[in-house]
Amino acid sequence: MKAQLEAIRLEAKDAVMSAKDGAEIENLRVKYLGKKGELTAILKQMGSLSPEERPIMGQLVNQAKAEVENLIAERSEQMKAAALEQKLKDETIDITLPATEIKKGKLHPLNTVLNDMIDIFTSMGFDVVDGPEVETDHYNFECLNVPADHPARDMQDTFYLAENLLLRTQTSAAQIRTMENRKPPIRVICPGRVFRADEVDATHSPVFHQIEGLVVDKGVTMCDLKGVLEEFAREIYGKDTAVKFRPSFFPFTEPSVEVDVTCSECGGKGCRVCKGSGWIEILGAGMVHPNVLRSCGIDPEEYFGFAFGIGLDRLTTTRYKISDIRLLFENDKRFLDQF
Ligand code: PHE
Repeated sequence: MKAQLEAIRLEAKDAVMSAKDGAEIENLRVKYLGKKGELTAILKQMGSLSPEERPIMGQLVNQAKAEVENLIAERSEQMKAAALEQKLKDETIDITLPATEIKKGKLHPLNTVLNDMIDIFTSMGFDVVDGPEVETDHYNFECLNVPADHPARDMQDTFYLAENLLLRTQTSAAQIRTMENRKPPIRVICPGRVFRADEVDATHSPVFHQIEGLVVDKGVTMCDLKGVLEEFAREIYGKDTAVKFRPSFFPFTEPSVEVDVTCSECGGKGCRVCKGSGWIEILGAGMVHPNVLRSCGIDPEEYFGFAFGIGLDRLTTTRYKISDIRLLFENDKRFLDQF
């Protein structure tokens, strides 16, 4: 019986030491120490021993059981520690690896300039209004004193969606909507995207942006227009910037002017950018035509107004010295990252 016990003890020790996981250990525990386990079975054979042998054998069996129990506990601990070790290893972060770059976007240069413009005009008391990009002939042309057969329509040919529905050629349409909905005094700017059937080249695009301004009140004169535009030009191009009005024609303003500012590149001496003239043209403006006021239900005997239309794209390309307007619409990140 002693030899049998010794054999079981050695076998159990071996098995426990080479067990590979918790489940195996548990099986071994049942196999050797359980109620029907092999060491328990030996205890049950004790009846066949002499009374002198019994306590000695009992002690040996208990020693063997304790030894196997300890081993099992030890082995379980070892396995737990190894599992933890492995887990830590699997989850380590190699902080020496280069980080994955998070690409941050930023404002498009058109939006940066637009935001500056909005700041300048709101500080002068203007509101910002919006209008639809798909307009009716009525708002885009008729109310702006451009009837169907007017030659000025040629310059502003556009994309028609239906006979009387078109992509707006100017944000002036939003001004008409404003005059219909608000009572003077009115002071608004309408920034937005406009469309014309233009051939694409370095300075033309069939899609571009305007910011139009409109003021309607009693006693408004051309001096007010000049004051507002001078203030705006100084804010955008620097305080020494001069503003020049040249007579021009727009069907919706009378008188109409083309507005130039001192060339920001050469300060007025003449250079490649201003083609030697010292001036660059930045906008069209004028006193709102009485017909336009009338078509919006405003009495031209009582109220006067001025309006101006600034090309946002031109302003942006001159400010950032961008040589080709197409760059603004290509969405090439290498280009946009420079601003
Ligand atoms: N709407 C004109 C254009 O697109 C610009 C303009 C606006 C001129 C307001 C005068 C007054 O060409």
